Amino acid sequence: MNARTDTPPEPAEPPAAAPALPPTALSPVSAPATPIPSSAASADADAAGPDRQQFVDWLRAVAPYIHAFRGKTFVIAFSGELVKAGVLNALVNDVALLHAMGMQIVLVFGSRPQVEEQLALRHVESRYADGVRITDNAALECAKEAAGELRLDIEAAFSQGLPNTPMAGAQLSVISGNFITARPVGIVNGVDYQHTGLVRKVDGESMRMSLSHGKVVLLSPLGFSPTGQAFNLSMEDVASATASALRADKLIFITEVPGVPDPVGKLMTEMSLRTAAERLHNNHLPPDVAYYLQHLVKALKGGVPRAHLIPFAQDGSVLLELFLHDGVGTMISDSDLESLREATLDDVGGILQLIAPLEADGTLVPRGRHLIERDIGNFSVIEHDGVLFGCAALYEFPRENMGEMACLTVSSEAQGTGDGERLLKRIERRARALGLERLFVLTTRTEHWFLKRGFVHATVDDLPEDKRKLYNWQRKSMVLMKKL
Ligand SMILES: CC(C)(COP(=O)(O)OP(=O)(O)OC[C@H]1O[C@@H](n2cnc3c(N)ncnc32)[C@H](O)[C@@H]1OP(=O)(O)O)[C@@H](O)C(=O)NCCC(=O)NCCS
Repeated sequence: MNARTDTPPEPAEPPAAAPALPPTALSPVSAPATPIPSSAASADADAAGPDRQQFVDWLRAVAPYIHAFRGKTFVIAFSGELVKAGVLNALVNDVALLHAMGMQIVLVFGSRPQVEEQLALRHVESRYADGVRITDNAALECAKEAAGELRLDIEAAFSQGLPNTPMAGAQLSVISGNFITARPVGIVNGVDYQHTGLVRKVDGESMRMSLSHGKVVLLSPLGFSPTGQAFNLSMEDVASATASALRADKLIFITEVPGVPDPVGKLMTEMSLRTAAERLHNNHLPPDVAYYLQHLVKALKGGVPRAHLIPFAQDGSVLLELFLHDGVGTMISDSDLESLREATLDDVGGILQLIAPLEADGTLVPRGRHLIERDIGNFSVIEHDGVLFGCAALYEFPRENMGEMACLTVSSEAQGTGDGERLLKRIERRARALGLERLFVLTTRTEHWFLKRGFVHATVDDLPEDKRKLYNWQRKSMVLMKKL
């Protein structure tokens, strides 16, 4: 059996999976897909009746998970398609149950189909580029409208409390707010994405405060810039950034896809971060799966130890995923800690793969395999579970006591989690150890990243002589310099 390695302490005699739930008990939760017969029924069980004994067995089987998950933080994100499919109330019931068991929950909702509906109502055409919505003024109004309606529907669902329903006595309060700071996507390949944004910062402290007071935090796919503008974000970006900022214990996506398929199309119940990154890199996944997976991988790289991709088509999927040994979707886990180290010749292939897309789009100056091989001792790399996620190189100019940081790259699925900064610090440390006094970079697109990290503008004349001779006047790179 493909047993998972999730954290809860197994009971002394771990069940292969929870025993089948009797249909009469806890009706909103569906029975596991593969019922496992309960352990040998005792004489007492016979007296109590098989259904009751099965119920007791089932509850005892999930107890270790309940103990292990109490006090843990889960970010649960669901697509707008879930709401459209009419299963919002079922999800809210399950979330309320998790909350009652002591789990701290942040919910993030998507709104793609609802925004489409609003646009259609106003006879406005949806515009996309590279699969990303271009949010003009009309689309932003639709996004606000959709998010507002969804938020009200979700809050209403959490406010139910009729007797004989799963929400009876729940008394659960939901908090929403301006927890997400956004920045514009900007102009990419000549396309102005207008009010489409990316997460810039997450106010994790305020969220933590709300969670510690027993609230469920509800986040919409909208964020706000310091200038007071609203931006249309993706729920995947919001959820992944929030999970990383909170160092959540789990990030769970509940979507229209069943999970991650293996190369022959069979659902993978578990995969390592390394495999997930390789599958993304090899580009053999269905596009919607790849889209969700890249955000889950990003969260794992941001310090979230477990991420799950599960389907809403399965009733109670979040409960089945959490409390069944094999779950119902795919769990991706970060087993080994990542390492920042100096490169060896074995890393040449990984470095070439990392920088190839950036060489192709002109961000980095092309270097051949032989140059990387020759200079491999200059490189530092970030490796996670055997896969390289980042690299940077230091070139020494001893006559002028200067160093150049070159080839700084963090793979797109790991960006925004601090790896770039860690590589810069590593290169600075190496440069100081060599007795260098100044570090410079030549850049065409990353000026602000370096300025924020202590670099200042310099000129070509400030470069070491050997570098000055090689300066490419057509490329017109900016020279930025930092005192060490
Ligand atoms: C630049 C790069 C190395 C940064 O790596 P990273 O791991 O994402 O960086 P960090 O996580 O340490 O920093 C993230 C911050 O940088 C910002 N950032 C990322 N790319 C940026 C850019 N091109 N310009 C300005 N800011 C940028 C992010 O918005 C985030 O800002 P915030 O924390 O203030 O919200 C990475 O984006 C990359 O590989 N880019 C493509 C290659 C490149 O441009 N290399 C430099 C060649 S000189």
